[in-house]
Order: sequence, then C-alpha cells, then structure tokens
Amino acid sequence: MVYYIRYLKAPRLQKQKTGSISASALICITTDLGDAFLSQDVDLLVTLHPAQAENKILCQERVQWHGGKRELPITLGPLPAGISQLSMIMKVTASKSTSTSSDPLMDQQNIPLVLSCWSTSFGGRQSLIAEKLIERRFRVNQSVELSIWEETGNSIARHIWDAAIASVMYLQQILARDPKSANPVLQKILQSERGSSLNVIELGSGCGIVGIALADLLPQCSVLLTDLDEVEEIITKNIEAAKPAHASKIQYRPLDWEEELPDDLFDTPSVDLVLVSDCTYNADSLPALVSVLGRLVKLSPDAVILVALKRRHESESIFFDLMQSAGLEDLNSHHMELPSQHEQWDEIELHCYGRRSQHVI
Ligand SMILES: C[S@@+](CC[C@H](N)C(=O)[O-])C[C@H]1O[C@@H](n2cnc3c(N)ncnc32)[C@H](O)[C@@H]1O
Repeated sequence: MVYYIRYLKAPRLQKQKTGSISASALICITTDLGDAFLSQDVDLLVTLHPAQAENKILCQERVQWHGGKRELPITLGPLPAGISQLSMIMKVTASKSTSTSSDPLMDQQNIPLVLSCWSTSFGGRQSLIAEKLIERRFRVNQSVELSIWEETGNSIARHIWDAAIASVMYLQQILARDPKSANPVLQKILQSERGSSLNVIELGSGCGIVGIALADLLPQCSVLLTDLDEVEEIITKNIEAAKPAHASKIQYRPLDWEEELPDDLFDTPSVDLVLVSDCTYNADSLPALVSVLGRLVKLSPDAVILVALKRRHESESIFFDLMQSAGLEDLNSHHMELPSQHEQWDEIELHCYGRRSQHVI
C-alpha cells in the first residue's frame, strides 16, 4: 500500500513572540484507510512556493518522519518580513527532487511509496490559514498531469484510495499499449476508433480520480461520475481542475446504489464502460452494488465493468459470487503491485466483467 502525507492541521502563517513570521503545519503519513502510520523513517522536503509562481521557492527545509510516530509538526521560518502579503502554497514530499514536480504514476516500478501533498493557497488577501484540503498531483503520461483534491479528515468518500491509484495506472498502460497490461476486452473498447463518444460511468467515484484520469487521457470520452451526495463539493472542485482530452467531458450526479436507478441517468441509453474502484470493502452494501451493475449491463449488454479492489477481509469474496449470480462473468483479471513499506509490495486486483456471450475475443 502506498502512504499518503496528510495535513492534520492545515498550513498557516503565525507571528512568533519575537515578532518574526513562520509557517507551520501538522502532518501524518498514513494509509488510505487511515488505520496505520508509516513505520519506517523517511526524509521529507517541505517547500513554500508563491501561489502564482510555483517554480520559485520562498523557503525550504528538510525534516524527518520517524517510523512509529503518528504525527509530525512542521515549522518553516523565520520567514522574510512582509511575507504574509504573499499568497503561498506548502508542499510536503518524500521525493528527492527539489522541483515542484508531481508524483509519477506512469510505471509500476516508479510509483512512490509516499505520496506528496500540496495545500490550498494561504496568506496574501486570503486567510492566513489554508483550507482543510489537500491537492495530489500525478504525472500520468508525458502530457497528462492530474490534480485531485481530497479532504484532510477521515471521510471514506472524500479522499483517494489505493485501488484508484492502481486503476489510473492500469488504464494508462492499456491506452499506451503496454504489454504488461494486455487486456483484449478493455483494449477493444478503449483503443478502437469510434464514431461517437465512449460512454463511461463510475460508481462510488469518491474524489473522482479514476474517471477524471480516463477523460484526461482519452479523447471522445464522456464520463459520468457518481457517488453519494456528500462528495458533490470535492468532486465539483476536481471536475473544474480537470483537463479533459479533445471532445471528452466529465459530469457528476449523485447515485445511491440502495435507491432505484433514475430513468434519466444518461444522455445516451448505452454505457460502454463502468468503473468501480475500492467499493467492495463493505459486505453489507455488495448486494446493492451488484444489483446496480446488473441493471446497467441489462440496459447496455455490451458494457464492460472494471472493478479494482484491495482485499481487506474475507467477507469481500461474496462480491464474486454475487457477480456470478447476476450473470456477470470475470472476462479478464490482472493484478497490480503498489509499493509498501520495508520494501514490500501490496496487491490490487483488477477484474474485467461483462456478459461472456457479448465479448467473444
Ligand atoms: C473506499 S471509497 C472509494 C472511492 C474511490 N472510488 C477511490 O477508489 O478512491 C468507496 C466509495 O463508495 C461510495 N459508496 C458507498 N456506499 C455507496 C452507496 N450506497 N451508493 C453510492 N456510493 C456508495 C462511498 O461514498 C465512497 O466514495
């Protein structure tokens, strides 16, 4: 599993007793579930950039995260007088690079163990305290850089999960025709010349990283992100930050699996691809999730469902039985390894489902 640097206390400018100004924050390095902290030491680089000129550095310091700790206070300063007139961003990274570059998600071997975080801007005309948000930046290929906002708290829906990281890499590799991710079913729909848009729906999209990445990577791709009402604000922010490829678009609408599928869910009656990332952790909601998948495939018999999951407990295996009972077959399975601490690897499963009769390869 990868580890996420999170702000427990958002960055802020503070006047010290001596009259000097410093910037401080409280961070932790934790898992997607927030249930464990990085238990190895890692060097971090903390940088303050002007919000309008991120290639410039206002202040930079190295600090160390010690394995076994649950949090790390950070203080940068004393900062030059007058700095609070400037709007700035704080970046914390474990990357050795001193540049402002994003975390690479191009090649499985190069995924960082610890993902960097950026703050919202603070200082200047804004508040002296950054918002309770974290930006993640990912380099997905030579031309696509993703910017995804998460919340700093422990909400399940409003941050990125490991299976989403693996899904983005997997889709990127398929689009790049990487032999490591050979998947004829997905290749057929993602790489084919289309006269019309590829229609994609993501269920339980959380912050929306998977669907947004696909729309940014693939021209002529129409992505509908769905989740519970609670994600609306963060997903809207992420859609605004997205840079969809030519003739691609991203929309959001609430969709609760426990409720009836609205008749007007799509502009178009057919769906080509359904994305589901890290939504199988709660056995209680699996019947409702599979029922929605079954109904989507009934409406669009050619649809392919890409399910990414990290097995967290035994009860999740019921998902596979339910899929089979719904007439959905696992057409192609892969796994992707994400780095974990102490030079271990963690496995994310990627299953491609559909009606077998519809996908004779
Ligand atoms: C572990 S998060 C995964 C988020 C995102 N797909 C990712 O991988 O980063 C599971 C998501 O499923 C959503 N979810 C859970 N129950 C749901 C339901 N009944 N209807 C719709 N979405 C639901 C949650 O709101 C949450 O965003």
